[in-house]
Amino acid sequence: MKLHIVKTKDELAQKAYDVLIDVIKSSDEVTLGLATGSSPEGIYEIFRAEKPDVSHVTTVNLDEYVGLAADHDQSYAYFMDQHLFNHLPFKATHLPNGLATDQAAECARYDEILAANTPDLQLLGIGTNGHIAFNEPGTSFELTTNVAELAPETVEANSRYFDSPADVPTHAFSMGIKSIMQAKKILLIASGEGKAEAIKGMIEGPVTNEMPASILQNHPDVTVIVDAEAGSLLK
Ligand code: PGA
Repeated sequence: MKLHIVKTKDELAQKAYDVLIDVIKSSDEVTLGLATGSSPEGIYEIFRAEKPDVSHVTTVNLDEYVGLAADHDQSYAYFMDQHLFNHLPFKATHLPNGLATDQAAECARYDEILAANTPDLQLLGIGTNGHIAFNEPGTSFELTTNVAELAPETVEANSRYFDSPADVPTHAFSMGIKSIMQAKKILLIASGEGKAEAIKGMIEGPVTNEMPASILQNHPDVTVIVDAEAGSLLK
């Protein structure tokens, strides 16, 4: 793993954007794996300001809440539209369909999309418990797209976006760890002291499904960019 510790969230966003742009410019056919949440917001802000050419870029997102329509203001489809897709003309964009009634068929459909569009780079955040996408502690490393049950701490963390914790969906369609590990390159970003334990476990701890992000130690091309707080527990 390549580790960069930067001072501020702005620096983190700029450095991550630079990594993404290198990949976008590397070929005339590119697939990016994208993420939602507070971590990538600064990166998407730079995309909106710089407006790079993305007409050759296909995107695949990590996850979507079960039960939320694409136009629900807390769905990840809506987040991506607001932050990125409404502003830049990507070649194609993909997310799981939160309203799919046949969940097994939806997972299979998404696996087919991923098989046809292996990310050249997958952008990842990390949960305070070390989850990547919605692969919570204890999840098998062998899963492809699956319906994940959110851990209580994830429901709690995500409740900041909803009127009450009871409104937070309990399940999500999520790329599995096996899907994520297919990406040619992985870029994981984290900021704030709330992420410090997870970052330490991911980099310095054993590879265990109790700390899902630790599997990234086995991937050949991972870049991690954290701010000083998220990196504060590293030796
Ligand atoms: P965050 O979420 O970027 O909103 O902190 C990251 C995650 O839970 O994976």
